[in-house]
Amino acid sequence: MSGVVEPRVEVLLDPDRAGASLVDDVRRGLGGRPRRLPPKWLYDDEGSRLFDEITRLPEYYPTEAERAILAEHAADIAAACDASTLVELGSGTSDKTRTLLDAFRDPARPGGVLRRFVPVDVSDATLREAAVSLSRRYPGLAVEAVVGDFTLHLGQLPRGDRRLVAFLGSTIGNFYLEERAAFLGALADSLEPGEWLLLGTDLVKSADRLVAAYDDEGRLTERFIRNCLTVLNRELGADFDPGAFSYAPLWDARMQRVDMRLRAEEAQHVSVPGAGLELDLAAGEELHVEISTKFTRDGIRAELADAGFEVTDTWSDLAGDFALTLARRL
Ligand code: SAH
Ligand code: TRP
Repeated sequence: MSGVVEPRVEVLLDPDRAGASLVDDVRRGLGGRPRRLPPKWLYDDEGSRLFDEITRLPEYYPTEAERAILAEHAADIAAACDASTLVELGSGTSDKTRTLLDAFRDPARPGGVLRRFVPVDVSDATLREAAVSLSRRYPGLAVEAVVGDFTLHLGQLPRGDRRLVAFLGSTIGNFYLEERAAFLGALADSLEPGEWLLLGTDLVKSADRLVAAYDDEGRLTERFIRNCLTVLNRELGADFDPGAFSYAPLWDARMQRVDMRLRAEEAQHVSVPGAGLELDLAAGEELHVEISTKFTRDGIRAELADAGFEVTDTWSDLAGDFALTLARRL
């Protein structure tokens, strides 16, 4: 007898509708101006694998900075909030989250041990693998994974116990400004007063370091960003030539974000039959694939307050590169 309880996996992303939702996103995004590609489609199996490699790049400091904060303060976080369920949005491999789970599972935790972990991600295979590995590592912890979209399914996440929602990796920075406000509002609506949010955000710093983090020597990030064209070729029968686009991330100081775009090197025609689109791209025309917004402590506090959260604690790494903010739904 191994005594290992398999994780429960609930699938809220309907595989049939996922196709329809890709078509809608692509019609709206690529058909509009500027042409945008919805970033959640970056994370197919290959994209998730590339992302995992990015987190280990020396230039990509956010993962290690956030890991350092967790290593130093996980016990403080576990003591500061009275949650007995941890929900993690965009959980991916939940690698850093282990540090948090260790602290929440410590029998000496003031509020008692965490009972349930609910990782939520669109990337089915990565999520399942993480869920199995976590239920082995934490016997007695109920792992209830949800294959779902955090822009659509917040209202359908498990309730009951008092929850802490962790949203790490500065994934919040990948929303455009108006989407971010809508997301935080929807998150607040989905929580009961007194429930908790732990938000990981990358902080504003020198443009050089910010750009370097998205423009690594080995060009992994470039491959990750280009992978969205491969996804469209495979899923929608498109005929993008990924080599016909160049990648050069730039820091937008006004919007405080790194912009990751693909630029058509020369004029070209692209068919996207699955979405009924025929695109004539001019030389130099850009596809807006991803943004990574950077934050200030005051900015985070204000945005959270607007959404109905009160900040109770903020932790940073020694260099002050990254912040973890604990907030309570009012
Ligand atoms: N939390 C991890 C991974 C961050 S990468 C870390 O801090 O390293 C962003 C993760 O969010 C990926 O695993 C991706 O699959 C997931 N994701 C992106 N868009 C999503 C969406 N709309 N709904 C749910 N998960 C999403
Ligand atoms: N949210 C993280 C960030 O903005 C991870 C991430 C999302 C990312 N998209 C990316 C990293 C594209 C590199 C490239 O940094």
